[in-house]
Amino acid sequence: PKEKGWASDLCLYEGFWYERLAGLEGIMFAQEHFQARPTDIFLISTPKSGTTWLKALIFAIMKRTCYTNSTHPLLTANPHDCIPFLELKLFREPPIADVEKLPSPRLFAAHIPYTSLPKSILCSGCKIVYVCRDSKDVLISMWYHMVKMRSKDLPPLSLEEAFKLFSKGLSGFGPFWDHVLGYWNASMECPQRIFFMRYEELKKETLINIRRLAEFLGQPFSMEEEREQVVEEIIELCSFKRLSNLEVNKNGSRDAVIKNDMFFRKGEVGDWSNHLTTQMAESLDQITNEKLHGIF
Ligand code: A3P
Repeated sequence: PKEKGWASDLCLYEGFWYERLAGLEGIMFAQEHFQARPTDIFLISTPKSGTTWLKALIFAIMKRTCYTNSTHPLLTANPHDCIPFLELKLFREPPIADVEKLPSPRLFAAHIPYTSLPKSILCSGCKIVYVCRDSKDVLISMWYHMVKMRSKDLPPLSLEEAFKLFSKGLSGFGPFWDHVLGYWNASMECPQRIFFMRYEELKKETLINIRRLAEFLGQPFSMEEEREQVVEEIIELCSFKRLSNLEVNKNGSRDAVIKNDMFFRKGEVGDWSNHLTTQMAESLDQITNEKLHGIF
């Protein structure tokens, strides 16, 4: 089945929608061929939920003994180059990246819904970090992103149209709420395997949440690291201000359409209030209450 999407037609696969088929072939290929290792670490999210920030943080936490402050890859590379998406990059299209050659622990990211994850990810016991964000801020962030992705031949996408599509679940890797619910339920069943994070909590209590994240990843900060303020350094290295001002993130690009600066807009909680009408906001909150009661 097909529906009109934000920048192209949306295609339904295993209960979720895919824009421009982005990620779909990669998911199918991964379902067939990806061999997870118990030591793998996956960052999973719906688009525009803070993936770029979490990629930077997980990379910085896991590689903290590998680099000095001046040689750190996050100073010259976009976080998406440090932790690539499985379905959108490595397995996107032939030739498929040889991920077998990568040393453990391998760091991957994905937007794949829980029920579409390759079986080996579920069986291997590898760790998954899931980040989610308030649907209202996700909608606004996605709208800004997709307006730039839309071909110049199409009429501009109004926020009203985007709101309608999003509310009906029609967005890439959506329905948003089903995606979140899949990982929330799985994290409740298996908290040692799936760490469920919220963008808003990470913004509010960054230090505590990064310590928790490092513990979950099996790399807790030692007393000595705490004394040396390693956590604070990581927070600074991965901050919106720092990352968005780097040359690579101001002027670099992923491909002909996607520029690196599309991943750094405002980086705030609650920007929706500058865009959505009260009615729109209430309507999204109602869907969230109905579908994700108890999570938000
Ligand atoms: P806004 O559009 O609300 O500013 P994703 O990485 O999943 O595509 O999400 C992008 C959103 O995360 C954007 O939100 C972006 O500005 C925000 N973001 C990117 N880097 C960030 C950082 N270091 N800290 C906080 N938010 C960040």
